[in-house]
Amino acid sequence: MSASHVNVYEKIWIALAAVMIACFLGALSVAAGLHAVHPPSHVETIDPVLVRTDSPYATPEVIYHPDGLTEVIARVEMFRFLPAVIRVPVGRPVRFRMTSPDVIHGFQVVGTNANVMVIPGYVSDFTTTFPNAGEYLILCNEYCGLSHHQMQAKLIVEPTSEGELP
Ligand code: CUA
Repeated sequence: MSASHVNVYEKIWIALAAVMIACFLGALSVAAGLHAVHPPSHVETIDPVLVRTDSPYATPEVIYHPDGLTEVIARVEMFRFLPAVIRVPVGRPVRFRMTSPDVIHGFQVVGTNANVMVIPGYVSDFTTTFPNAGEYLILCNEYCGLSHHQMQAKLIVEPTSEGELP
């Protein structure tokens, strides 16, 4: 193989590498531009001073939308979860929106993948589906004070009229 052969292959591979790098950078730019890169939670801010009096979290509730979405508006504070009992349908999307007026708490539905931090000043927002009906314990898993260990609530996943969905 002559030196000129090597030279040609070198140039081909350099060109290929350059094209690949351009593609990667292009994909990154498109992703950043179109979808905006951001963390999945803790991006929506709220004034913790107003949480108890002048915010959706002043009146914690579970909203059953006609399209099948269940929305849980919860306030997590020393040393309780509101609402204390949350009823949701099995196999349907449940959107949790919650915040804390005082210190950092945890919101963990034991035995499921629902587990977030609830931080004063931010709205924790996630959507999940519970595939199995039953009663689940909700616990605070961030130490938040003397009665941290007594902080708990109940999630009741109820069968729907059509039976359990896959
Ligand atoms: Cu709230 Cu620990």
